Amino acid sequence: MKTGLFITLEGGEGAGKSTQSRRLKAALEDAGREVILTREPGGTPEAEKIRDLLVQRDGGNWTPMAECLLFFAARQMHVETLIKPALAAGKVVICDRFTDSTIAYQGYGHGFDLSIIQQVAVLSLGDFKPDLTFILDLPVTDGLARSLKQKDVSSGKENTEDRFEKLQHDFHEKLRQGFLKIAAEDQERCVVVDATQNADDVYSVIWTRIQNAL
Ligand SMILES: Nc1ncnc2c1ncn2[C@@H]1O[C@H](COP(=O)(O)OP(=O)(O)OP(=O)(O)O)[C@@H](O)[C@H]1O
Ligand SMILES: [Mg+2]
Repeated sequence: MKTGLFITLEGGEGAGKSTQSRRLKAALEDAGREVILTREPGGTPEAEKIRDLLVQRDGGNWTPMAECLLFFAARQMHVETLIKPALAAGKVVICDRFTDSTIAYQGYGHGFDLSIIQQVAVLSLGDFKPDLTFILDLPVTDGLARSLKQKDVSSGKENTEDRFEKLQHDFHEKLRQGFLKIAAEDQERCVVVDATQNADDVYSVIWTRIQNAL
């Protein structure tokens, strides 16, 4: 039976998840693997509709439980219709954010009960989880500066300071510590990568670990 490899990238805003995901896809394809690059929330037409409900500014004032269920409704569709079939066909699936982001943001960040998130995870996904998770770790100010710089470049605006304040430093610190706890509790699956390094060095840590897993 063919078996693929399910890799997730996690970490706060601006940590480099999307940058590394794209590089990884290209490198794995050069190495002759078939690769699916996907992201959460989203990844399938149905799950992208749920993403719109969750991420749009006026997308609704969800209770924490409703929000959690929406994330896992999207994730369940994504896993069953895209990720599992790709893995069964021997492909490598790279996913930009997955369950760990719900645990970090809704749980550690917003204070929703971690054991409820775990129960919903088991209910919707069973014991399905990534083979390998890279947690890109970066001091909060560095991550926010990177992601603001990127947004300013794409919007052509220069109101960095205003928006920086709105991004709630404390919340992002909770996120960072949450991701580190997740990694400490599942060291077999999770690799913490120092994301203050330049993109080439971050990539080489990731690539070395993946070659061991392939
Ligand atoms: N190692 C690095 N050193 C410096 N800058 C980087 C590094 N990796 C990525 N960047 C830059 O930081 C910005 C954010 O990177 P990227 O979009 O990959 O992060 P992300 O984790 O996907 O963020 P988000 O959570 O907002 O999607 C981009 O402008 C990117 O070019
Ligand atoms: Mg990204």
